[in-house]
Formats: sequence, structure tokens, C-alpha cells
Amino acid sequence: MVIQRKTVQFRGIQIPYLYEDVYYPQEDTLFLLDVIERHFASFYQNTETLSILEMGCGTGLISAFLAKKYHMAKFMLVDISLHALKVAETVWELNSLNRHSVSFIKSDLFSALKPYKKNFDVIIFNPPYVPEEKQMVSQDILTISWSGGSKGLSVISAFLTEASFYLKKNGEILLLTAQFSEKDTFPQLASQLGYEFHLIAEEKIVNERLKVWRLRRKFLINRKRR
Ligand SMILES: C[S@@+](CC[C@H](N)C(=O)[O-])C[C@H]1O[C@@H](n2cnc3c(N)ncnc32)[C@H](O)[C@@H]1O
Repeated sequence: MVIQRKTVQFRGIQIPYLYEDVYYPQEDTLFLLDVIERHFASFYQNTETLSILEMGCGTGLISAFLAKKYHMAKFMLVDISLHALKVAETVWELNSLNRHSVSFIKSDLFSALKPYKKNFDVIIFNPPYVPEEKQMVSQDILTISWSGGSKGLSVISAFLTEASFYLKKNGEILLLTAQFSEKDTFPQLASQLGYEFHLIAEEKIVNERLKVWRLRRKFLINRKRR
């Protein structure tokens, strides 16, 4: 459903409210954005020709924020929701960002991205991570934006299974996860899927312990060390 247009500013980026079923910026978005801002300031020059994929872009706030500073970077914004992509495109226009630096792609994770293997320096993902015990037969698009399935790791696991094939040799993934129970099962999953990973930030927001991880393909790092 289309809602009455209003615009709200987050970290200097105008975000229009166009549809009810889009994931608009929340605490997790802003936490990830702040971590990414610091990470980029430490590791990348704003003159670098970076290739950045934002999976599950939602409104595209994180990429739009980076595009303001990293003028030479190219962005690919991907979401399973057409409404999210419509909002992200509008964000790009409203904030006068370079239209030639971005592409918007509707895709279920990497299903429509096969031509872009080994293409990205950085892949960013704030995934659906809320644990859902009931197996839902059909989900509406808003539920898809937050539901991480059993243990909250279903989408994350499917994402990591493929993501490394889309990284350039020294590329990295910046991924947000949430720990709801005492033991965090994410490190075991990341290790099983062949990643080397570091926790770069964590914060408790209400009953969620949010974490941002930097992941790289393990065998590439081992090969470099030899
Ligand atoms: C938690 S929201 C994050 C949105 C935005 N990046 C942010 O930080 O505010 C997760 C996003 O992932 C998208 N998404 C969920 N499952 C997906 C899938 N299988 N493939 C691509 N995008 C997906 C949702 O539509 C939603 O926009």
C-alpha cells in the first residue's frame, strides 16, 4: 500500500516514506551505519574506485551515506522487495547522488547476480535475523525483511554460502548479526562455511545483542600468508 509521502532525515540523508511494507531505518541500521563509517575511514581512501554491494538494501540509507563521501565508488543495491528498491532509487534522486554510480537489482540473495562473481571489494548486509520458530508457508514482504527463520540464521547462512564467490581477491563482507540467547552460534556457522572473521563492534539494544563482523574467505588469507 502506498502511504502519504513524508520525508525524514537520517545522518544527513533524506528518506521518503513511500510504502508501508519497506524496512525503514531502525536502531540496527544506524548502528551498522556508524560502524561502517568508522571502518571505511580506517581502511579506505575516498578517492578509491571501490565496488560495493549492499545486499537487502531496504531504503538504501547505508549506501547513500557512503556515496556522499566515496565519490569514486560504484554501488549495487539489491533487495527482494520491489518497493524497497523504489524507495532506494528515490533516495538516490532526492539526495542528488550520482545516478551513474549505482544500479538497483531485484534479487533473492545472489540469484540474479551470477554475472558479478569476483566483482566486489565490499559486501554489506543487514539481514533479516529475528528467530522465528513457526515455519511459515507464505510470508508477506515485511515479514521477510526481519524474519531470520529458525535460530535467526537461515538467510545469513544462505547468504554466506554464496557471498565469498562475489568478492574480489582481497574483498570483505561487513555483516550484522544479533545474539538472542546465551551462546552465539554465528562463529561456528561462519567457520563451517570457510570464513575468517573478526568481531568489529557490538552493542546491546533492548533484548538484542547486535554485532558487526568482518569476514573474508579463509583459504585466500592462508594462501597470502604462505
Ligand atoms: C533488516 S532489513 C535491512 C534493510 C536496510 N539495509 C537497513 O539496514 O535498514 C533486511 C532487508 O533485506 C531484504 N531481504 C530479505 N530477504 C532477502 C533476500 N532473500 N534477498 C534479498 N533481499 C532480502 C528485505 O526486503 C529488507 O529490505
